Amino acid sequence: MEELYSISSSKDVERMRIHYFGKKGTIASLMRFLRDATPEDRPNLGKIINDTKEELSSHLENTQKRLLIQERQHRFAKEAIDVTLPAEPFRLGIEHPVQKVLQEVVAIFSSFGFSVGLAPDLDTEHYNFTGLNFAEDHPAKDMQDTFYFPKDYLLRTHTSNVQVHLMENQKPPMKIIAPGKCFRNETVSSRSHVFFHQIEGFYIDQNVCFTELLELMRAFWPKLFGTKVKVRFRPSYFPFVEPGLEVDIACTQCQSQGCKLCKYTGWLEVAGAGMIHPNVLDQAKIDSEVYQGYAFGIGVERIAMLLYGIEDIRTFSRNDPRVFEQVALKYSSVL
Ligand code: PHE
Repeated sequence: MEELYSISSSKDVERMRIHYFGKKGTIASLMRFLRDATPEDRPNLGKIINDTKEELSSHLENTQKRLLIQERQHRFAKEAIDVTLPAEPFRLGIEHPVQKVLQEVVAIFSSFGFSVGLAPDLDTEHYNFTGLNFAEDHPAKDMQDTFYFPKDYLLRTHTSNVQVHLMENQKPPMKIIAPGKCFRNETVSSRSHVFFHQIEGFYIDQNVCFTELLELMRAFWPKLFGTKVKVRFRPSYFPFVEPGLEVDIACTQCQSQGCKLCKYTGWLEVAGAGMIHPNVLDQAKIDSEVYQGYAFGIGVERIAMLLYGIEDIRTFSRNDPRVFEQVALKYSSVL
C-alpha cells in the first residue's frame, strides 16, 4: 500500500493499475473472496471492496493528473527561452575577393570623376564586335573563342560592349566606369577561365588626349595597391582603339624576381587601353571630327590573385567560403 503514495512517474501509475485492477490483481482476488463469503457477510464485504475500488481508482487517476502536470512543467522549464540572453552570433557569408576588387576599383575611378554604366552579359554581335570595328573575319569572332547562342546572341567576350551601348544612348561628354562579367571559350587552367571579370572605362569629350590616358593608367595602380607600383606600356592592337597599348605592372608577388603568377617575367599584364577608334565613334553617331575619347579594360581576376596571394584562378569559381575567409583574414589589411 505504501507504494501507492510514493508513485513518481506515469509508468508507475500504470504498473499499480495492473497490480490492483488487472485480471490477476488484488481486486479480482477480493471478488473471488466475496463469492465464497456467507450471505450475511456479503453485503458488508461488498461495500468495503467497492469503496476500496473507488478510492483506489480515484487515487490513481489523481496521481496520474498530478504527474502529467508535473511532467509538463518540467518540460516547459527545460524548453523555456530566456529572452534576456545575448543573441547567438549570426554567421554572415564572406565577401568574394573578386567583388571586393571590383568595388575598390569602381570607388577609385569614381573619385576620378567616372560614373558607373552597365550593359548586358548576353548581347549581340553588333555590340560585342561590329560596333567596335572588328573586321568580319577577326579571329576573336571564331566559335572557338566565343560562346554563341541562337538568333545572333552571344556571351560578351569583354566589357567593351558597354562602350557601344552607352555611345548609342548618350551624348558626350561621357566618363564611364563599367564592371562586369565576361566569357570566353578557352581551356580552363590555373591562369585562364571561361568566366572572368573586367572593368571597362572610357572618356569621350572634346580635347581628350593620349597623355591623359597614360597619366590615368599610372595614377590608378598605387591607389589600388596602397604602395608605389611600377607601370610600363607596350604598343598593342585592339580593333576599337588607335593607338592601342597594353598596361603591365611590376609583379608585387615576387618583387619582379619572377614567379608562377607573372610567368617568371617580373611583369603582369593588367589592362588594355587606347584612343577610341574614329570608326567606333562614327558608327555610334558621335562625330569623330569633334570628339575624341580614350578607353581601357582592366582584368580583375589577376589583380585579385596578386592582392590576395591566390595562385589558381579556379579558386574564385570554386566559391569555398572557408578559403575566402582565410584569405580575408590573412589579407585584412589589403583592401
Ligand atoms: N576589351 C579588351 C580586351 O578584352 C581590353 C580593352 C578595353 C582594350 C578597352 C582597349 C580598350 O582585351
